Amino acid sequence: TIDREFLKALPKCEHHMHLEGALSPALLFQLAAQNNITLPQDDECYANAETLSTRYKGFTSLDDFLGYYYMGMSVLIQSSDFEALAWDYFQHASADGVQHAEVFFDPQAHMSRGVSYKTVLSGFTAASERAETELGMTSMLTTCFLRHLPPKDCLDVFESDDVQASYEAGAVKAIGLDSSELPFPPDMFRDLYARAKAQGLRLTAHAGEEGPSSYISTALDTLHVDRIDHGIRLAEDPELMAKIAARGTLLTVCPLSNVVLRCVDRVEQVPIRKFLDAGVKFSINSDDPAYFGGYILDNYVAVQHAFALSVGDWETICKAAIEGSWCGEERKKEML
Ligand code: ADE
Ligand code: ZN
Repeated sequence: TIDREFLKALPKCEHHMHLEGALSPALLFQLAAQNNITLPQDDECYANAETLSTRYKGFTSLDDFLGYYYMGMSVLIQSSDFEALAWDYFQHASADGVQHAEVFFDPQAHMSRGVSYKTVLSGFTAASERAETELGMTSMLTTCFLRHLPPKDCLDVFESDDVQASYEAGAVKAIGLDSSELPFPPDMFRDLYARAKAQGLRLTAHAGEEGPSSYISTALDTLHVDRIDHGIRLAEDPELMAKIAARGTLLTVCPLSNVVLRCVDRVEQVPIRKFLDAGVKFSINSDDPAYFGGYILDNYVAVQHAFALSVGDWETICKAAIEGSWCGEERKKEML
């Protein structure tokens, strides 16, 4: 039988998680106290970790969640805060059987608060090095740009010295696009993506989470992304689905996120079976585990519960995740 233990033992790669989304209410209140940060007084959810956790169970949309996500980040000040946050995630992921994680962070959400990019990066890098030595888990960092901000701001941050230095040093190897999806179509960011591509960076973008499947085709055709984050609304367009299956583009699907943010009512409505039947490659991921009530293994378990997949289906999913990873071929061989 395919139970939690079976799913835990599968060699997993995670491709879609935002390190800031690993901030648990407990760590949020701890860092707020350490850093003397005043949380909103007019929102009773911030009374304590328990009231905040309860509020997280009642998100009504992506934007409703994002309000809490950006507020939560206000407690992250020191490099050690970012390290503690990422280390908390790596420990959870390793316990869930993740061997390799490609993780997002949002530089603009910190730089706009006066926290330097170097502070953020040094904390995340320290945790990532520790994960490799202590847990045997490899990882890669992706800078995500916030699509609700003007494309010019995103480009300025991309081109800023510290950010460029991190690409040149190989500390960051990819860019992504996140935050409010509607009404910010991917082609607004074509200049940013053209520059990143010219520099040899890997490219991904959130598309087709709340937004229409046309955002997925635009991300492919105008941004030339290698991967699509979420992409669940692809199932509404069979022609595009066939095209993506033929190209072998990986979708990074986040089932529990889709339910909690009300993109679907139930995990059964995430198009897992449709993607498997159409030969669309995808991985299963946690997105913002501390906000959505589960890390990667909880997502695997929810998918198994909803779809009663076979051992062969799980082999297909895990193989696609390993092969679709951005680590070297050597590392992929170790995991296969
Ligand atoms: N930032 C963090 N999580 C996100 C999501 N699910 N969609 C868009 N932006 C995000
Ligand atoms: Zn996401």
